[in-house]
Order: sequence, then C-alpha cells, then structure tokens
Amino acid sequence: MQSQQKCIAVFALVCCFAILVALIFSAVDVWGDEEDGVTEENCSKNCRIVLVENIPGELSFNSNSTTHLSLTLGLNQLLDKAKLSVEIVSPEWALTSSDQGSRLYPAYQGQFLFQRLISLKSRGVRLKIASDQPNSTELKGLTDRYAEVRYVNMTAFTRGRLLSSFWVVDRKHIYIGSGGMSWKALSKLKELGVIVYDCSCLAMDLHRIFALYWQLQYRDYIPSIWSKRVTAVFSKDEPLELKLNNTDAYAYVSTSPELFCPKGRSRDIDAIRHLIREARRFVYISVTDYLPLVNRSLRGSAIIRYWSPVDEMLREAAVLRKVKVRLLISLWANTHPLTFNFMTSMQALCTGLPGCSVEVRFYRGKEQTEGINENKFMVTDKAVYIGNLDWVGSEFAFNAGAGLVIQESQSQPQDGQNSIVEQMTAVFERDWFSPYTISLQAGKNIVQESQNTWQKVQALKTKPESRESY
Ligand SMILES: *[C@@H]1O[C@H](CO)[C@@H](O)[C@H](O)[C@H]1NC(C)=O
Ligand SMILES: *[C@@H]1O[C@H](CO)[C@@H](O)[C@H](O)[C@H]1NC(C)=O
Ligand SMILES: *[C@@H]1O[C@H](CO)[C@@H](O)[C@H](O)[C@H]1NC(C)=O
Ligand SMILES: *[C@@H]1O[C@H](CO)[C@@H](O)[C@H](O)[C@H]1NC(C)=O
Ligand SMILES: *[C@@H]1O[C@H](CO)[C@@H](O)[C@H](O)[C@H]1NC(C)=O
Ligand SMILES: *[C@@H]1O[C@H](CO)[C@@H](O)[C@H](O)[C@H]1NC(C)=O
Repeated sequence: MQSQQKCIAVFALVCCFAILVALIFSAVDVWGDEEDGVTEENCSKNCRIVLVENIPGELSFNSNSTTHLSLTLGLNQLLDKAKLSVEIVSPEWALTSSDQGSRLYPAYQGQFLFQRLISLKSRGVRLKIASDQPNSTELKGLTDRYAEVRYVNMTAFTRGRLLSSFWVVDRKHIYIGSGGMSWKALSKLKELGVIVYDCSCLAMDLHRIFALYWQLQYRDYIPSIWSKRVTAVFSKDEPLELKLNNTDAYAYVSTSPELFCPKGRSRDIDAIRHLIREARRFVYISVTDYLPLVNRSLRGSAIIRYWSPVDEMLREAAVLRKVKVRLLISLWANTHPLTFNFMTSMQALCTGLPGCSVEVRFYRGKEQTEGINENKFMVTDKAVYIGNLDWVGSEFAFNAGAGLVIQESQSQPQDGQNSIVEQMTAVFERDWFSPYTISLQAGKNIVQESQNTWQKVQALKTKPESRESY
C-alpha cells in the first residue's frame, strides 16, 4: 500500500520535472545562428584598425591635417575581402537616388556600392540585411535580385527606430560608424567610422547583435530567455584583450535600448558613463544632437522628463576632477531650441572655478541639409567610443543602436604610428578649430535671427490681406 503511494509520488515528481524541462526549452525562442567553428578561445585577436571618414566636397581643413581613408573606399575594400557573408544593418536605404547629385556632392558612389552589393551573388557571398523599413523600394530591389532581408518591427518593441549602422563581413571584419547606406552619407554629409580587419573575436560579438535583429523578424515581443548565441561574449566588465595595429588594447561592443541587451551585454549609456568616469585629462564629444531629455508619448500626450545620465557624469568630471570637457554639436534645421539652454547651463558651470573647463561649440555645415556633422563619437585621453545614436535621452531609451569601445592599455605604440585614440583626438581637434565651428552664443543669434526673418516674411505675407479687409 505504502510502496504504491511512493510510486505515485515519484511518478508525479518525474512528470513535474519533465514538464518543467519542456517549459524551459520552449521559452528559449531567440536562437542564434550557427557559429562556424570559431570559438572564444581560438578567435583572432591580432587586428588592424582604420579610421574612415566622409568629408563633403566643400569642406577644406587646413593642409596639415591628416586625411583618412574615405568611407566609400573603405566599404568597397571590405566588399573585396568578402568570401562568405556580408551582414548589414542600416537606418536607411537610399544608395540609388533619382537625385543626380552635383559636382560637389556626386551621387554615383551610392549607385556603385549598390551594384557591388548585388554583384556579391556572382561570387556566392551571402548578403543579409536587417531593417525596420518594410516599405523601402531599395530593399525590395535588393531582395528581388539577391539579398536576404529581415524586417524588425521596432514599433512593436519600443516605438523607436532601428538606427544601428554596422557591417560584419565573413564574421571576421567589421565596420561601425555614423554613415549608413545612403548616397548622402558617401557624399553630402560628414561621417566617421572605423573598419577593423581580421578580428573574428570582435566580429563574433557584433554578429551576435546582428543575429538578435535577425531573429526578431515577425515578432512583437522580446522573450525573457535568450539563446546563448545572442548573449554577449565581451563587455564593460570583461572586455576583449586584443592587438590593434600591434598596440595592446581592450575592446567590446555595447548596444541600445535596454530591452535588446541580453545577459552580459553592456548598454551604450553604461559604456559612455564608464569612459567619462575613467577619463583623467579630457573628454571630447562630437555628436549631431545633444539633449538631456526623454520624450515619451503616452495615450497621445507627450510626457517629457529630464534625463541625467550623461549630463551628471560630465558635470562631475569637469567640476570635481578638472577634466577638460568639449562638446561639438551640429547647428542644423532640427536643432532643438532647448539645446541652447542646457548647453549654456553646462558652460556656466565652471564660472570662477580655476582649472575647470567646459566648452561648447556648434558645427555648421554650408546649408541646413548639406555638410552636416553626423559624427557620433567620444574620445578621452584613454579611450574612444564610436556609436550609432545621437546623445539625446529618447534615442537611448527607444532606438536600437550599437557602439564600439576601445580602451588603450598602458603601453604606448612602439612603431611610431599614432594609436586610434590619438587619431580620433586629432580628428576632433581638426573639426573644433576649423572655420566651420561657431560659439554657442553665435549659434543662438543665428537661430533667433532666422526666426525673426521668418516672422517678418510671415508679416509681409499677411499685409496684403489686411489691406484688402479695409
Ligand atoms: C576553434 O575550435 C573549435 C572547437 O574547439 C574547432 O571546431 C574550430 O575548428 C577551431 N577553429 C579554428 C579557426 O581554429
Ligand atoms: C603646418 O605644419 C607646420 C610644421 O609642422 C607649421 O609650421 C605650420 O604652422 C602648420 N600650418 C598650419 C596651417 O597649421
Ligand atoms: C508600409 O506601406 C503600407 C501600405 O502602403 C502602410 O499601410 C504602412 O503603414 C507602411 N509601413 C511603414 C512602416 O511605413
Ligand atoms: C508592427 O507592430 C505593430 C504593433 O504591434 C502592428 O500594429 C503593426 O501591424 C506591425 N507592423 C508590421 C508591418 O507587421
Ligand atoms: C515631444 O514629442 C512630441 C510629439 O512627438 C513633440 O510635439 C514635442 O515637441 C516633443 N518635445 C520635446 C521637448 O522634444
Ligand atoms: C593601422 O595600419 C593601417 C595599415 O596597415 C593604417 O592604414 C592605419 O592607419 C593604422 N591605424 C592606426 C590607428 O594606426
């Protein structure tokens, strides 16, 4: 009798266990891709890094400043190297355009890159694209001709956008930067990124971010349990130790929004805060927009909150540690009016404090849509962060982006080459001291003037009507 009861109890327990196991396995529903043979132990860490830039035609920096590989050339060279696969995420697809461009801003580089992407077919190289634009005609064209395109419904996840902008080639080489797949990024806009060659360790990790997007097709929720193949390999706390052009360095990739950070993945915002905290001499930031606000729309009405994570770190660095802070922001059609207020307050912080320095300048392209500085990077005396998002609270909260962090180890480069940190510092200083920057006050005056002009124009327009009404 008793043994029968025992039997039933054991049977029930086994059943429970089986159901539990089944439940756990069915809950894991973001599977990653196959990882072809390369593991954390035997991936390659002996890498080469190259800075790539697009400098719009009309800009001329002083002749002493170093020029870097052009973005167009860099991307084409990556395609030359591709043997197995090219994985691309880009906020927009507009390489081919009815716009013929002009002498200063030619459109043909975009068309050429588009043709090269299609021609991957003849070489048997897979072309995989993740995008949040289901209606893009260019992506339809690519799908028809060869590419595998998967759609990520950002509306369902955060109502944000997929603004990530990177390439992974053969799970070995990567590109990450501000320039996406638009002919303007190869011609009209000022862009900056890096290409890292022969770096399967870093590529493996960036590929996992891509694999996550790839797996999100047709989904409208993020599962609570993730496959190991999309979790982070390296992070803020456990960075990859590697060699970049024979210099020892640490690196990892970070991502946004928080919802897209599986176990161990560092958030962009944590990476940025960490680098500012570690800086000893200077923090230079070059971004299109900087605004410490989060703007949520809830049932039709906008709820706006102050967003402090970056602001507070900068203030602490400047006031308490005397780290020199410089912010280079773009002045363009969409510059938010509150930018002036927040930046004025930031600059005023050092009033009467010896050794404290916070400076803000505006970078101004030739016109409001041309030559805009799209750069999204930070460089400190020890590290660089190259990201995809502008430094606006709402961007980090709702939009998907990725970032690459490179920290120098103590030893200095041996072969007399400038390290990537030094190169990026030089790029920042070139822009900062160029004729295309103006002070905060000058920027404010320009905007006020144009508003006044606009009001005058409006007044002129309404005058005849008012006369009629006499
Ligand atoms: C790395 O290690 C895995 C298993 O340990 C092996 O299958 C693979 O061939 C190795 N890859 C390289 C490039 O050595
Ligand atoms: C260029 O460099 C030289 C020497 O390196 C220096 O004398 C000169 O002032 C520099 N010119 C500009 C425009 O910075
Ligand atoms: C795509 O096009 C369809 C029909 O033209 C439209 O209903 C839908 O809102 C569009 N989606 C996006 C994300 O623009
Ligand atoms: C994206 O998700 C939203 C909200 O869940 C849904 O209304 C919309 O139809 C989805 N769009 C597509 C193209 O599946
Ligand atoms: C917040 O978003 C709403 C709607 O998207 C917009 O009208 C408003 O100007 C935004 N406010 C700020 C401060 O950006
Ligand atoms: C790394 O080496 C390549 C050439 O092999 C060079 O073009 C590039 O500028 C170097 N990068 C850095 C950061 O020194």
